[in-house]
Amino acid sequence: MGDTRPIGVFDSGLGGLTVAKEIFRLMPWERIIYLGDTARVPYGGKSEETIRRFGLQDARTLLDLNVKMLIVACNTVSSVAIDYLERHIKDVPVIGVVLPGARAAATRSAEKRIGVIGTAATVRSGAYAKAINSIDPSIKVYGKPCPLFVPLVEEGMIDNDITRLAVQHYLYEMVDLGIDTLILGCTHYPILMEVIQSTVGNRIQLVDSALWTAKEAQHIMKATGTEYPAAQSHSKSMEQQERQAAVKRAAGQFSADNSEGVAASRFLVSDVTPNFESVAETLLGAGLPSIEKVSVEELEEKEV
Ligand code: DGL
Repeated sequence: MGDTRPIGVFDSGLGGLTVAKEIFRLMPWERIIYLGDTARVPYGGKSEETIRRFGLQDARTLLDLNVKMLIVACNTVSSVAIDYLERHIKDVPVIGVVLPGARAAATRSAEKRIGVIGTAATVRSGAYAKAINSIDPSIKVYGKPCPLFVPLVEEGMIDNDITRLAVQHYLYEMVDLGIDTLILGCTHYPILMEVIQSTVGNRIQLVDSALWTAKEAQHIMKATGTEYPAAQSHSKSMEQQERQAAVKRAAGQFSADNSEGVAASRFLVSDVTPNFESVAETLLGAGLPSIEKVSVEELEEKEV
């Protein structure tokens, strides 16, 4: 029993590495093939048609590499194109980041006032509001696009005065709206978690869709018997591992250094940027396999 094939994970750039990190934290034995479309990032300001096309090219590139599941680790593609991808991809389960994040936020917001920050396309789509209100129509959802955050992260400007000012610029308005929960509706944003939390204050809890998406993936693999075979021998201590991971997370100490899955995974990008490598090492630890290049032309070939 079990399935040794890797999980396919894609994003427009390096943001989806936050989802990869949560996958390895929960399931250190799993292998992934990560695709970051770093040559064409950002997707967030593009038209819906382009986001759908790019999303399908990314998805098919991973499917051709024989993955057992597809995780759309990009809120923009998940918000705009998840139905489209599900219509075109029948062979493996397809999971987006919006539903897991929306569910987590809906169950946490005591005051029923949730903020969602993301790219222009994500906020314009209203996907989080729809998902949250399908769970509880009485919850008020406030969206705010934060278009400067992705370039700041892609430039490695994680904690400096410019980033701090940009966070204040976008988020003071959210604080004034009286939200008690803020969804980081872009996979790049957890990288700015500390500066965001210190700006909005501890009264507002941040929901990182990455963690909940990894849990959803684990749930589906368990239900379908497609976990990596090593998972079975680990399964007795799963609860213990989750507790340990939660303690490490609270202490901010996570490193996937000791994950056998990381070393056996593949990381593909459409443009090899120094920042991708350094963010990947920061999030996933040393011992990362070398980054591979897949050209935009190769991605485009997957459209037909
Ligand atoms: N990581 C993407 C997302 O979660 C944002 C980056 C982009 O605009 O392409 O939406």
